[in-house]
Amino acid sequence: MSNPSEAELIHMFKGILFTTRSSPELLKSLDTFDAREDDVLLGSYPKSGTHWLAGVITKLYNTPITLTSPIEFGDVSRLEELNKLSSKRIIPTHLDYNMLPSNFKNKNCKMIYISRNPKDTAVSLYHYYRDNPNLPTVDTWTAFFDLFLKGDVVCGSWFDHFLSWEEHKNDKNILFLFYEDMKKDLPKIVREISMFLDINVSDNDIQDICKKSSFSEMKSDTEKENSDPSHTVCALTSNRKLIFRKGTVGDWKNHFTPKQNLRFEEIFNEKMKFSKM
Ligand code: A3P
Repeated sequence: MSNPSEAELIHMFKGILFTTRSSPELLKSLDTFDAREDDVLLGSYPKSGTHWLAGVITKLYNTPITLTSPIEFGDVSRLEELNKLSSKRIIPTHLDYNMLPSNFKNKNCKMIYISRNPKDTAVSLYHYYRDNPNLPTVDTWTAFFDLFLKGDVVCGSWFDHFLSWEEHKNDKNILFLFYEDMKKDLPKIVREISMFLDINVSDNDIQDICKKSSFSEMKSDTEKENSDPSHTVCALTSNRKLIFRKGTVGDWKNHFTPKQNLRFEEIFNEKMKFSKM
């Protein structure tokens, strides 16, 4: 069987590339989604640590919750399926802030946005493209580097995505997190998340959650689990095993040439000149 063509794998919606696993009909009807006041939305650009964050959050609750697959994943019947869930919903998404169903905003739902150094994000997404049959083929890091800087990758430009969320960083219902802070002091961030979500946890609980959320534990859980491997919080893959690659800070140094680094810095400084973060 020949490899699927690019058109079979990706499509453009409102100027942003999506995989065909997000149907245009679903994307068009997102605004009709019936958000609930107690929904918690996990926003991220792909490869920023979404699974890690979701792993921590699901361990924090001692009441029934459902971690759904991303809201933009599937066909138009998706919204009805989400409607049928009776428990509290933790809903991940890689959508730009401007594309979120407006009910999440009108109902002041709590949202947690996780971001990561875009250089490491680019490298992680490159490997994901290479290993993931749902994404177009990329031949070399050099070719991917150009695509990433132009925003010609799934979920669009990292810069636009970050800036769209950053505009709302002072909204009371939004918590901004960084992958690097989680690496540096996970217990501190878990405490911050629990306070934001109004969940009471003891120091012992936090230690336990951090232990169970380490890269090695999460990776080996995925290898052992015989549950549905398609249940991922990333709309781009059908295989959770692809998520746990290296889990480090600074892997970009093993990929960027000095010239690429300079070019990245130039574009970063230009695009982010109004950023406060
Ligand atoms: P790398 O490809 O750099 O290893 P997402 O969940 O948004 O797709 O992000 C995936 C990235 O988060 C991958 O980065 C993955 O290894 C990393 N990751 C997943 N779980 C992690 C954990 N428990 N600790 C640290 N990094 C983790």
